[in-house]
Amino acid sequence: MLTLAIESSCDDTCAAVIKNRDMVLSNIVSNQFEVHAQFGGIVPELASRCHIESIWPVVQAALEKASTTLEDIDLIAATRGPGLVGSLLVGFTFAKALGLAKNIPCVGVDHMAGHLLSAFLCDTKPAFPYVALVVSGGNSSLFEVTDPLSYKQLGRTRDDAAGEAFDKIAKLLKLGYPGGPVVSQYAENGNPEAIKFPRSWLDPDKFDFSFSGLKTSVVNHVNKLQQKNQTIPIADICASFQQAVIDVLVEKSIKAVQASNYHTLVIGGGVASNKQLRQQLQKRCQQENISLFTPPPVYCTDNAAMIGLAGYYQHAKGNTVAPDTDVYPRSPLH
Ligand code: KG4
Repeated sequence: MLTLAIESSCDDTCAAVIKNRDMVLSNIVSNQFEVHAQFGGIVPELASRCHIESIWPVVQAALEKASTTLEDIDLIAATRGPGLVGSLLVGFTFAKALGLAKNIPCVGVDHMAGHLLSAFLCDTKPAFPYVALVVSGGNSSLFEVTDPLSYKQLGRTRDDAAGEAFDKIAKLLKLGYPGGPVVSQYAENGNPEAIKFPRSWLDPDKFDFSFSGLKTSVVNHVNKLQQKNQTIPIADICASFQQAVIDVLVEKSIKAVQASNYHTLVIGGGVASNKQLRQQLQKRCQQENISLFTPPPVYCTDNAAMIGLAGYYQHAKGNTVAPDTDVYPRSPLH
């Protein structure tokens, strides 16, 4: 069975071809960094327009890389939500139209489900049940995953997502977009203990996150230095900010695994490609006897391979979409 998968929920146009459940034959990503960089964040209308330009070439590239054609495709899986509606509509409508024209069944996939299952694209796969931490530009959530189609949210961010905080700090320090990779690069040369930024633990027995207070604290710190005409220690700010995010993500994830009585933690989402987060999670998981699964960065950031994988299960359940099935901006998994 060959699945053509399409993902366009935000600012990446992605297509992949998956054989059977999880064999990735191709996984193409076309990003829009240059378009959005000048604004320090994603401009939704520009994102939709870029998807329109990229969708067909990206799908063609995925088919070509997999050495196949549309004639051999058995299933089309496309992200139905959550995300930017204009962006979602491009990929999802394209998928439905292709399915109609070629008489191929089409399934709609929740973007979060893709992140929750992305570890299954790797050679060493986790066993159910497990806790998953999904941290990206739009989400910071903890889930219990009991089988490929059953997820229960344990907690989520009450304000900014972790990736959003990275992006806003990068904008404040004029480091460019997307913020995560560049902030973590600066952090490598900084002291994570140089500045005591706050950790927002909220209710210690709950698994919600909050990153807006941390962001405000960084803004205030930079403003004070500017008012005094002092040099901004960019590396130290990046390292101290990053450590404040990591401390909370690590400890809440460990607690969630222990509270669920599970022994496995899986991570996903763009922020999950952060080297320090991965290393520090690894260390804590070892201490607590928890098996940690860290998909490679290419399966953490937005990609269509994970949509093909999650789509496989939707199809097995018979969840095909109709021509008038709509996209949704907020996940029912929230
Ligand atoms: O999952 P993703 O590709 O897109 C969605 O948000 O859905 O995640 C992108 C987010 C951005 O906010 C980006 O700054 C962040 O992930 N990110 C990182 C790193 N790489 C990407 N954050 C921290 N460290 C990184 N290395």
